[in-house]
Amino acid sequence: MIFNVLLTEKYHSSIHLDFERYPHAILVGSTGSGKSYLARLLLGKISKYEPDATLIICDYKGDDDFIQFVTSSNCFRYDQVTEGLDIFYQAFKRRQEGTDKSRTPKYLFFDEWTAYLTNSEKKKQESEKKKLATLLLLSRSFNLHIIVAVQRMDAKNFEQSRDNFVIKVALATLSAESKRMVFPDEESKSIIPKSRGKGYLLLDGKELTPVIVPKIRNKEKLDNAIWDLLEREDNSK
Ligand SMILES: Nc1ncnc2c1ncn2[C@@H]1O[C@H](COP(=O)(O)OP(=O)(O)OP(=O)(O)O)[C@@H](O)[C@H]1O
Ligand SMILES: [Mg+2]
Repeated sequence: MIFNVLLTEKYHSSIHLDFERYPHAILVGSTGSGKSYLARLLLGKISKYEPDATLIICDYKGDDDFIQFVTSSNCFRYDQVTEGLDIFYQAFKRRQEGTDKSRTPKYLFFDEWTAYLTNSEKKKQESEKKKLATLLLLSRSFNLHIIVAVQRMDAKNFEQSRDNFVIKVALATLSAESKRMVFPDEESKSIIPKSRGKGYLLLDGKELTPVIVPKIRNKEKLDNAIWDLLEREDNSK
């Protein structure tokens, strides 16, 4: 269980995320809505509460958010993200084929998935989408978890795989299409625009909850926690 990831907007009570039950998350919001900020908080908490977890970061945009981790061999930027995704995918294959029998939690954080696909050639788009879809569908029982951040969620970059994001966090203001894609049912009617760092959480089968992202209190401590998660020895490699 990852404790204190978000706060409810109404009573500021803490929200915890159980990645065993809800294995994959998507963070959606326009530019500046606070996705990378929330992602860093979440990765720091994963480091704290799952001492044997490991992490691969794919930071397609490669701006300042994850710059402090560039020297880690598990942090991939720009076009290197293809390699990061593939390494994670191969780890899944090894567990699926039984050559890796360990089940320590492994996380993949992919920032700007839509931008990555948009800037890839058609053939590559298809193969990358397929990889993500396979991971989302099959990796849960192998204790592999995916967290994706996107500015918008559209049908063509996700296809069927969107339903496998069983944790959905939408921040600030969503485009009409993102709203339909992220909250396809009744929920979308009650969604109103919010400011940076505020939004909605939808866990599969639960009620839509207005949330706020807690403040990062100690940036250095957070960076150290993420660094530790990236650099942990991965015995299953
Ligand atoms: N909850 C928050 N509290 C305080 N500051 C925040 C919060 N969320 C985001 N910020 C600040 O707002 C700015 C934009 O946030 P962030 O980079 O996370 O947005 P983003 O959604 O990832 O945008 P982009 O899609 O352009 O990458 C950053 O300077 C960040 O530090
Ligand atoms: Mg960002």
